[in-house]
Amino acid sequence: MEKARIAVLVSGGGTNLQALIDAQQNGILKSGAIRVVISNNRDAYALTRAAKFGIAGEVVLKKELGSQGAFEDRIKEILNQYQIDVIVLAGFMSILSQSFTSCYPKRILNIHPSLIPSFCGEGFYGLRVHEAALNYGVKVTGATVHFVNEIPDGGEIILQKAVDIQPDDTPETLQKRVMEQAEWIILPAAVEQVCSQL
Ligand code: GRF
Repeated sequence: MEKARIAVLVSGGGTNLQALIDAQQNGILKSGAIRVVISNNRDAYALTRAAKFGIAGEVVLKKELGSQGAFEDRIKEILNQYQIDVIVLAGFMSILSQSFTSCYPKRILNIHPSLIPSFCGEGFYGLRVHEAALNYGVKVTGATVHFVNEIPDGGEIILQKAVDIQPDDTPETLQKRVMEQAEWIILPAAVEQVCSQL
């Protein structure tokens, strides 16, 4: 059975990309293979992680292309060029319109650092998610992998994993623990689950 062809969209450090690369190496991700990493940030360390593992990297800059439509068209061109079956948003900090997401129903996955439907949607990303959890005073948070549709963080949930909040947590310490104990575990598992069912 031919492995599903995966594209990973990134913007920053790429620790979730690294978790996927490690999962390929250790056999957890066996029904799919990462064929290209696409970044909207030329300086994303995620591109370095891809290069170290011999994975093609592409940079797509909305500023250079001039519009959201041209930005999304370029991404689609790359996805077609690499004959991609599954798209993973891993720390990807750019909006994708409904006209884009509707082209790939149940083929785009996103990792969000909370237990959706808590602390998600417009404006909830990165450290802000953990600040909101700490401000609210929840005792448990975690991460969610979901399909992407036109509603920010609104698609069908695939996997979730809970993480206890410690009394002395800061947004930074909480983010680190959610990444280590949840994101880096459920993202590879969810990608394998989706790829194995194609
Ligand atoms: C992580 O908090 C992830 O949950 C969110 O983006 C942040 C950075 O991810 N989606 P990465 O280290 O670039 O993978």
